Amino acid sequence: MTDDIIVSPSILSADFANLKQDIEKVEPYVKWLHIDVMDGHFVPNISIGVPVVKSIRKATKLFLDTHLMIENPVKYVDAFAQAGSDLITFHFEASKNDTVKTIEKIKENGIKAGISIKPHTSVDEIKDYINLVDLVLIMTVEPGFGGQKFMNECADKIAIVKKYSKNENLIIQVDGGINNETGKICTCFGANSLVAGNYIYKSNDIKEAVQLLHL
Ligand code: DX5
Ligand code: ZN
Repeated sequence: MTDDIIVSPSILSADFANLKQDIEKVEPYVKWLHIDVMDGHFVPNISIGVPVVKSIRKATKLFLDTHLMIENPVKYVDAFAQAGSDLITFHFEASKNDTVKTIEKIKENGIKAGISIKPHTSVDEIKDYINLVDLVLIMTVEPGFGGQKFMNECADKIAIVKKYSKNENLIIQVDGGINNETGKICTCFGANSLVAGNYIYKSNDIKEAVQLLHL
């Protein structure tokens, strides 16, 4: 059992009509909850927004890990922070010339800041920002949908982030197609946070599924 792996169940795979019950299903086994925000522009799907995060904040004490897959994230940082996020991760590709400003704005809200890259963006492009954030999220699928196949070729990027990081507390998170096998590949490369949607929510035994991610 490795307790230093942060498992963050993605509620994108939950039943939105029974969201509270689905949050309660994972609550005994995890400390984090991953909330996927999609705008239909940066990714070809629309999911949830600020009011839902606000309601989730009232429903749970879990650490709210908000993953913004939206254009112009700097514009929405305050709203998602005030809604109760404990961490906001934005996409480097969507932040254009505002990358530093976006990180600063997240931190001004007194919460943790994360930066994410899509499968075809190289770690070199975010080299200058790695030491400004608390978390780097390596996408292991094209963002937009749950239930996709893990892209093996993305795992190498984890080691490159580690190489560039001067922060021994940096959280290196992976998201997309994570299960007990692909999660192991990522933790071997140095990831210490695993997002999992379908693997956790479609499992018959959530407790065991989470435990297997820690092995
Ligand atoms: C995809 C989202 C993921 C997604 C993961 O764009 O960022 O968080 O919910 O789902 P699984 O684990 O099913 O691939
Ligand atoms: Zn996500």
